[in-house]
Amino acid sequence: MKFRRGDIVGRYIPETLVTRERGEAFAPANIALVKYWGKRDVELNLAQTSSLSISLGQLGTTTVITASDGADRVIANGRRLDNDDVFAARLLRFVDLFRAGREDQHRLLIETNNSVPTAAGLASSASGFAALTKALDAYFRLGLPMRVLSALARIGSGSASRSIYDGFVEWHRGRSGDGMDSFAEPLAVTWPDLRVGLLVVSSKKKPIDSTTAMNRTVETSELYRNWPVQVERDLKTIRTAILDRDFDTMGRVAEHNAMSMHATMLSAWPPISYWQPETVKALQQVWQLRASGVSIYVTMDAGPNLKLLFEAKDQTRLEETFPHLQMVTPFST
Ligand code: PMV
Repeated sequence: MKFRRGDIVGRYIPETLVTRERGEAFAPANIALVKYWGKRDVELNLAQTSSLSISLGQLGTTTVITASDGADRVIANGRRLDNDDVFAARLLRFVDLFRAGREDQHRLLIETNNSVPTAAGLASSASGFAALTKALDAYFRLGLPMRVLSALARIGSGSASRSIYDGFVEWHRGRSGDGMDSFAEPLAVTWPDLRVGLLVVSSKKKPIDSTTAMNRTVETSELYRNWPVQVERDLKTIRTAILDRDFDTMGRVAEHNAMSMHATMLSAWPPISYWQPETVKALQQVWQLRASGVSIYVTMDAGPNLKLLFEAKDQTRLEETFPHLQMVTPFST
């Protein structure tokens, strides 16, 4: 049986919507250490595999929802967007799932602010849909459990399921057709010395969006057949490494997993690559640094920029090599 987004979200919405004056929420951005790449259901964003991420502390999205006296209005980072702007339209389509059929009674002003500088090359959809889901939950007084919030955020954007939580987070792929067993959960581990460095090497526009790229990879890459096997093994190893605070094992698995994901894209047809010449240069610098004895690892998503993983003891060395590195301390709070 094929499930539709509206039917799934509708299960959690009461007959009468009672609103609060204001619904406000923050959600952190996240970086996957074991990646989500490939959907088993495109409508509901159900993943082929589970994945595991680290949330980026204070970097993320704050969203405030209040009633609008006229039409719906979306303000992103202080700028009023047209409602048919791609971002605003995607956001409003998601909001419509919550007020289905009652749009006229609930016209909304949605203000959303990213603390991630847009140039940092971090996808804002994960923190954006997680913050929006939490803000809708508050505004419509739904009081939904975290697992449900995570599963609903996933319908907005797969990786948003993980941005519901701080720290290390695992998104379970789930098995059911309606996807309600496909939600994320936090790992009870803190790691104050862990650092993530955002290295922007290019701000060129993405050649292809992640959904199209995933679908093409699943359909045409022979290497992809091995992807679920590797992910299962990587998840097992990385969970233990995180619990043991074994930085080198964690970093090695994360880098190997990211490079393998990019290899599946390169082996799709037509091939997909998010890398730019600057990406390769920076990767080689990272590998040289590691060869000289520094414990540094790298992960990359659907874009040309690098995310470096290291520990506090190596921070100065890293800042010398990469002066423009933006430092994130995931466990600062
Ligand atoms: O949630 P989406 O559709 O933006 O896909 C995210 C895909 C990756 O960032 C490449 C991997 C991941 O697990 O976040």
